[in-house]
Amino acid sequence: KRSTDFQNSPLPDFTKPQVRDQLPQAIAHLRACLNSAPETPLLIGSEQIRTSDTFDSLNPNAPNERIATVSIAQEEHIAKAIQAAKKASGSWAKLSFAQRTDLLKSAAAKMSERLWELSALQVLETGKQWSEALGDVAEAIDFLNYYAQQALRFDTPSDCGKTLGESNQLHYRPRGIATVIAPWNFPLAISCGMTAAALVTGNPVLYKPSSQSARIGYEFVRLMLEAGFPPGALNYLPGSGQIVGNALANHPEISTIAFTGSRAVGMRLIQSAANPPPDAREIKRVICEMGGKNAILIDSDADLDEAIPAILYSAFGYQGQKCSACSRLIVLESIYSHFVKRFKSAVAKIRVGPAEDPRNDLGAVIDASAQRKILEYIEIGKDEASLLYQSEAPEYGYFVPLTVFEKAHPNHRLAQEEIFGPVLSIVKAPDFETAIKYANDTPYALTGGLFSRSPQHIALAREKFDVGNLYINRGITGAMVERHPFGGHKFSGLGTKAGGPDYLLQFLNTKSISENT
Ligand code: SER
Repeated sequence: KRSTDFQNSPLPDFTKPQVRDQLPQAIAHLRACLNSAPETPLLIGSEQIRTSDTFDSLNPNAPNERIATVSIAQEEHIAKAIQAAKKASGSWAKLSFAQRTDLLKSAAAKMSERLWELSALQVLETGKQWSEALGDVAEAIDFLNYYAQQALRFDTPSDCGKTLGESNQLHYRPRGIATVIAPWNFPLAISCGMTAAALVTGNPVLYKPSSQSARIGYEFVRLMLEAGFPPGALNYLPGSGQIVGNALANHPEISTIAFTGSRAVGMRLIQSAANPPPDAREIKRVICEMGGKNAILIDSDADLDEAIPAILYSAFGYQGQKCSACSRLIVLESIYSHFVKRFKSAVAKIRVGPAEDPRNDLGAVIDASAQRKILEYIEIGKDEASLLYQSEAPEYGYFVPLTVFEKAHPNHRLAQEEIFGPVLSIVKAPDFETAIKYANDTPYALTGGLFSRSPQHIALAREKFDVGNLYINRGITGAMVERHPFGGHKFSGLGTKAGGPDYLLQFLNTKSISENT
């Protein structure tokens, strides 16, 4: 059932100079505070714990700029956080859904008040362009408001129908402690979406931010605690995936794992849930949002004035570091040379440089290891396909050149493996049915797009293009909470769609009660 009182957060109106000035001011303010060595402790129950073992979170566009020195959780801290979560869990689970909802709404209000500061942090810590940073904070606010509104229905058990002398209902109960393992590419929105869903349904959370966005994760948890979430209900445990992630995932007292990240890590979490330790009392439920190898199809009658800007944004927005990003263009043979010529001149206008300067369209990628991996794929592409366009890339910072290959083979690595960077491959298809076949022929099914004016082809894509989110005559990134419930299948994910009406059910056990009256 569609909700009626949910509204997506509006984005700021940059035509107003007083609005336009806010973000650079917030960035300058944040930068001035960085000089005093910001340190983020672990947050466990009501304690702040500083550890001797730390790592630095850096600005990808200027890696000599330290955004935070982050305390690293060890096994002993995980044990402590489990105790804190267990202590909080009884009273947290006993609250009504409506009571927990109030806290989500108060967190949403606090996030709106701190919009500029939280966006500035994203620009510096994760190298987001202004609009990407603001969009991420807006999406986090949307998750809070949307899940708050969705949770209300669980206070009333569902009526399962009657027969004479029997009453039947379905009750919704929290599952128990949840681990949230979050990515850096939507550092606030996805952290907040998974965490808010677990909390509002009555489950305490052990939250592990990505190391590349650990300070944003820290500010997020502090904001939630300020909004009134009780100590122990939400704990902040940064550290490596190998140690902290695995320990959190394997602990017998964790009931649910909500994860967004790579396919390799997601598969490991699913495997560990399938092999519970001897002292486990239940099967962990694993909710995974993983990768994509998303394609946009360009039909012979596509409106290229609409298609080209939408493709550029879908492929290169935030340096292509979105699981929803377009990394394959499948173009019908009859329009291929005309399209490629126009596309090449459009892509050459993209300006590369630090994300903090709003004149630049493409900034640095997240870190040195991402930079290395993307550069390796560019070399693979040079062997497998023809280079159509490559930009310059600044030497300082984790930059890679924006790269477009054409005449890519649909089965080669370039067109099959997730690169997670500004690398796009163009594949030629002889006809529309083959284009759909190429599009579907990867292990992933996340987003997909089509530009066409043919009602038959649009109908065929609706039916046969096998993706979780299909976008017709528009870009394929930037799913809006409620309007575009988001998530894939095949090796793209396990679970129901984020920002959609079924998401919260994953954090609940349902109990069917039948009474002979
Ligand atoms: N929800 C994001 C998008 O649609 C990806 O996580 O771009």
